[in-house]
Amino acid sequence: MQTRLLPPGPENLELGRQFLLQDLPVAFPTETVYGLGADARSEQGVRAVFEAKGRPADNPLIVHLADPGQIGECAEWTPLGRTLARALMPGPVTLVLRKKPTVSPAVTAGLDTVGLRVPDHPVAHAFLQCCGFPVAAPSANTSSRPSPTTAEAVLEDLKGRIPLILDGGPCRVGIESSVIDVTGDRPVILRPGRVTAEDLAAFAEAETYELRPGESPRSPGLKYRHYAPACEAVLVRPERRELLEEAVRQAMQEGKRVSVLARPGFYAGEAPLFSLGQTVDDMARLLFFSLRAAEKESDLLFVEAPEDSGFGRAVLNRMRKACGGREL
Ligand code: TXA
Ligand code: MG
Repeated sequence: MQTRLLPPGPENLELGRQFLLQDLPVAFPTETVYGLGADARSEQGVRAVFEAKGRPADNPLIVHLADPGQIGECAEWTPLGRTLARALMPGPVTLVLRKKPTVSPAVTAGLDTVGLRVPDHPVAHAFLQCCGFPVAAPSANTSSRPSPTTAEAVLEDLKGRIPLILDGGPCRVGIESSVIDVTGDRPVILRPGRVTAEDLAAFAEAETYELRPGESPRSPGLKYRHYAPACEAVLVRPERRELLEEAVRQAMQEGKRVSVLARPGFYAGEAPLFSLGQTVDDMARLLFFSLRAAEKESDLLFVEAPEDSGFGRAVLNRMRKACGGREL
């Protein structure tokens, strides 16, 4: 299959809608990462997305809508859900609610809940409006790879497997939405993201869900390997920074091609530096982009960790997974 990478003009949005109606997946930008869309009403369309990504069948997809007003068509509102939808949508957040029968079990992998998201991105919004139906979409990467934050990254993973990528340039947030269960009285953060526990405190005290060994996870995605670059990666916490130069030197002596992903000032040795910008927001925006750039010329990556607070917690969560738990 030929994969076309096209600008998101009205005629190409319409082309995308036509592909979705033929059960062919289409990639589109959002403010977090690129998504790989299917018509959420079509079991076959949804299956095609799982297949293109190589995604395990028990990991549910998020349903994307142009407007929070459409949520009632897919799910049962709760008072907490309404409050948070009003405050946070459109935005980089996914709310988990009890699903209505209109949502195909293929989307939710048989769960009785569904994740709903209204992206805050002009192209995503225009595309969803053009479609007029709910669009089920995971991140547009091959399963277990870093999420794509540019159209080129989607192409790298899915070339030949999907007909169309709508190019909206680089994503503003850079890591995926916060997934928040709002079926009860208290929000439960299932996946941390740009919307933090601190942000939620204005509405209700949030709980952060931790997967305990031996337990089956409340969010199926938690049990899979994620964001893995093609080479080995090691996390470097701020308090371990002084060990970095020696670790780099040693790995280079062993003949490894070593790169460092960090903010300027964190590392000043001879290994190539892939910038993570200045702020925690920069780190989020550049993390997946830099992982994909660095893996092409490295055997080993060292990755600077942010402080474990606020939005830094979400960035750290992605880095830990990308590094498969390895730390300096
Ligand atoms: O920012 C994002 O959320 C991006 C863009 C494209 O919208 N999408 C995304 O989708 O990251 P995906 O499929 O890569 O991650 C969805 C996560 C998975 O970990 C999945 O297990 C969880 O959300 N999830 C989806 N539906 C759920 C549900 N009903 N209950 C619990 N977790 C759910
Ligand atoms: Mg994903």
